[in-house]
Amino acid sequence: MRSLIDIKELTVEEIEELIAVAEDIIANPKKYSEVCHGKKLATLFFEPSTRTRLSFEAAMYELGGNVLGFSEAQSSSAAKGESVSDTAKTVSCYADIIAMRHPKEGAPLVASMRASVPVINAGDGGHNHPTQTLTDLLTIHREKGRFENLTIGLCGDLKFGRTVHSLISAMARYKGVKFVLISPEELRVPEYVINEVLIPGGCDYVEVRSLEDYIGELDILYMTRVQRERFFNEQDYIRLKDTYILDGEKLKKAKSDLCIMHPLPRVNEIAVSVDDDPRACYFKQVLYGKYVRMALIMKLLELSAD
Ligand code: CP
Repeated sequence: MRSLIDIKELTVEEIEELIAVAEDIIANPKKYSEVCHGKKLATLFFEPSTRTRLSFEAAMYELGGNVLGFSEAQSSSAAKGESVSDTAKTVSCYADIIAMRHPKEGAPLVASMRASVPVINAGDGGHNHPTQTLTDLLTIHREKGRFENLTIGLCGDLKFGRTVHSLISAMARYKGVKFVLISPEELRVPEYVINEVLIPGGCDYVEVRSLEDYIGELDILYMTRVQRERFFNEQDYIRLKDTYILDGEKLKKAKSDLCIMHPLPRVNEIAVSVDDDPRACYFKQVLYGKYVRMALIMKLLELSAD
């Protein structure tokens, strides 16, 4: 039995298999409509979510399975003091697979050690979000047709943005990828990402402050929200929240085939007018998340459509 807690647990070959299955689901959805018949997914969300929870649920329904779960800690026995371990053991009695989001880093890992069914990390604190990364990789694959030889700008809150940490881990394994890490000084990518991923991987990276100065070099621009819920000090959040706002003026300097991504939710960091720009890919990204989660559920349940 296998869980997915960190994107690094998947080999490059496994990621490419998941992308290939997701592409086949997009092309032949009917083939997959009964693959999970009789199976149940539990979505245990101790922290708010729109996309991740609903795309997991839509994914399971489109595979012919069923869904149970909760969308806030207060409606579970966690509110009475139940531990993550006991919750995981309990839910293993009811479901075949668990998707868990939790504000504490490492909680889904703890759950996976206690559950008797696969556990998928649906986001743990400021740490990791591997299924968002699979979503991002499918988007890059569909928009760029490759993972190698791309210049990726990651812009905004690179400290607390867990999707950024997982995406860097995944893309660092491909040749010719250059990372342009654009953030305020206070929201730089954590040292562990530099010391455990970028440096050992021999990656080409720069840390910069200006989006305008670098936007023209980018093949992909991955915008992120400043993560208010992870700040200790509201004044710091207010000071930093609008550091980067992508708008039509800044996009004049960008490549004509730039792929603009964002894990969403957006607050103010991409002007709504950019949504009509053909380079805006973030709502396509939302849709791709469902297909790649279908592929992942099948993999972890060891099911196939053939
Ligand atoms: N991208 C993402 O994790 O969105 P939600 O918080 O809405 O799930």
